[in-house]
Amino acid sequence: MKIIVVGGAGFIGSAFVRELNKRGIKPIVVDLLTYAGRKENLIGTDYDFVQADVRSEKMHDIIKEYSPDIVINFAAETHVDRSIYKPQDFVTTNVLGTVNLLEASRKFNFKYVHISTDEVYGEECGDENSPLKPSSPYSASKASADLFVKAYVRTYGISAVIVRPSNNYGPRQFPEKLIPKAIIRTLLGIHIPVYGDGKAERDWIFVEDTARIIFDVVSRAEWKGEVYNIPGGQRYNVLEILKMLEEVSGKEVKIKFVSDRPGHDRRYCMTTSMKYEVTPFKEGLRRTYEWYLNNRWWWEPLINDKFFVEDEPWLTV
Ligand SMILES: NC(=O)c1ccc[n+]([C@@H]2O[C@H](COP(=O)([O-])OP(=O)(O)OC[C@H]3O[C@@H](n4cnc5c(N)ncnc54)[C@H](O)[C@@H]3O)[C@@H](O)[C@H]2O)c1
Repeated sequence: MKIIVVGGAGFIGSAFVRELNKRGIKPIVVDLLTYAGRKENLIGTDYDFVQADVRSEKMHDIIKEYSPDIVINFAAETHVDRSIYKPQDFVTTNVLGTVNLLEASRKFNFKYVHISTDEVYGEECGDENSPLKPSSPYSASKASADLFVKAYVRTYGISAVIVRPSNNYGPRQFPEKLIPKAIIRTLLGIHIPVYGDGKAERDWIFVEDTARIIFDVVSRAEWKGEVYNIPGGQRYNVLEILKMLEEVSGKEVKIKFVSDRPGHDRRYCMTTSMKYEVTPFKEGLRRTYEWYLNNRWWWEPLINDKFFVEDEPWLTV
């Protein structure tokens, strides 16, 4: 099976490359290597690499040259706070980048796996058929891309599926996101900014579980534009997570309440009919904490002035 992993140098994409290697598959990774994508994430894995922008014509050349069976798209701008500060990149990469791959799928015969998110459903609980109610520019861009995938299946008959994982955590996540930010700040002995009352709740899934379940979805897909939700089924709010981090790390976790993120969703809570096992949250949190503790070389170069003045990051990033 020949697979191109677009965005494979990012957090979930690199975990998926590891999953493919476990199954004896050496993928082609295509990534622009933005601030969030790093070849360091792929150390120890077996892959071919091409640096390219998902929005570019070069994407079509790469697909033509490698003639893949499957193209899976993890490439995206992914940080909600950045999307509030500057939405434009989210539209071009997340929406136009997806449309660019969909155009390629009309020309070249591959199956397209689109990685979406639970955030497209907004705060209401539901299954794969629930209406899309995005709140942030990030989730609006992801929902738009999903609609384009469905439109291309219906209009042009391309083969595609949409996968919607919930909040991922684990090794190699960029420290702008809650869990790595909290772990690193705790290791550095500085406060963690907590938005609003700290009770915004997310459904958490360990990244290695997501990678494995996405592979299973690819094996069972019907390629008719159907959606597969991947919740972790373990919902915790920010304060609950920070309390668990204190237990796992044995260190004091310092909290500073800051004003709430504009448009902040109180919760995500999608369901699925798929059956799978996931890592218990506290165990995954311990593994994540130990990874950051033992891999300071990975995150120390990322700690700059912005890391220390981002109490309200949507005003600064
Ligand atoms: N992290 C989560 O909790 C989560 C949850 C649900 C869904 N998702 C989705 O999963 C996917 C991967 O998320 P992640 O957390 O690994 O993100 P990430 O920010 O860690 O990685 C994104 C990757 O995409 C690459 N990229 C960005 N713009 C690009 C462009 N124009 N061309 C080519 N490559 C580009 C980056 O270099 C990086 O390697 C995204 O689509 C995201 O919306 C993430």
